[in-house]
Amino acid sequence: MSEKPQLIVHGGAGDIPDSLLDPFRAGCRRAVEEGYRILDSGGSAEDAVEAAIRVMEDDEAFDAGKGSHLNQDGFVSMDAGFMEGAHLNVGAVAGLRDIANPILVARRIMESEHTFLIGEGAARFAEAHGIARCNPEDLIVPREREIWQARRQTLRLATPYGDTVGAIARDVRGHLAAGVSTGGRQFAVPGRVGDVPCVGSGFYADDAVGAAVSTGEGEHIVRIVMAKRAVDHLAAGMHPQQAAEEVIAYLAQRVGGRAGIIVMDRLGRMGCAYNTLRMGRAWWEEGRIEVRVNRED
Ligand code: GLY
Repeated sequence: MSEKPQLIVHGGAGDIPDSLLDPFRAGCRRAVEEGYRILDSGGSAEDAVEAAIRVMEDDEAFDAGKGSHLNQDGFVSMDAGFMEGAHLNVGAVAGLRDIANPILVARRIMESEHTFLIGEGAARFAEAHGIARCNPEDLIVPREREIWQARRQTLRLATPYGDTVGAIARDVRGHLAAGVSTGGRQFAVPGRVGDVPCVGSGFYADDAVGAAVSTGEGEHIVRIVMAKRAVDHLAAGMHPQQAAEEVIAYLAQRVGGRAGIIVMDRLGRMGCAYNTLRMGRAWWEEGRIEVRVNRED
């Protein structure tokens, strides 16, 4: 059986400033290029998701890997999640400080007997599985250091300009995978974890139905278990676009949240919705890559 492969990525929803529009567009495009190349040559949905997210983790425009937001202590604290839709295997990791690509750790956890590891134990698991630690300072970029210094002086609450990167892929076997990676929120209280490593809130994938990946205010997203809610809508017969719009509307109405979501059904049809100012996203369509950040793009 050979199905049409499909890939959608997001680079985060939020108040993305004009200065980051082009970097967001370029980074989302490169992520689809990398991931789709794998799918097009018969590679797995997992490999495509991992490749797409690595591109965005390595790109300092995004709040994931290098370029992550800093917490109140001035460190990055990164979370990631991975799920495959054939056997519903899940891998999640939280509180990483010195791993450049948390998505690799989430995938290794998914492929192990574990489902969720945190902090130093997760970093040791990563090392034992061939994933090197880095200097935590290498993940800190000048833009984030300046934001942190300004926040420390004013103690203003953080307004995220965009958070999290994510991807959903469907390979030629019709198999789905979803992944998500984040540096969390600006100036977060140390120890804070959002939706990203929480299966069902930040991500979900089921080959029989579809997949979804969230971005936005984790404290709100977890309260409606947003990704699973979208996948449940697919199971009830909704188109992915309708499912995406419903969960964002419900999030706003029920808990006052601001977020975005990408959704794909088992046939590879896609949807995306957000109620933030902007959301970076890109996907494969009719032989070319579509990229959007604004509503009017
Ligand atoms: N959505 C990312 C977070 O809240 O940490």
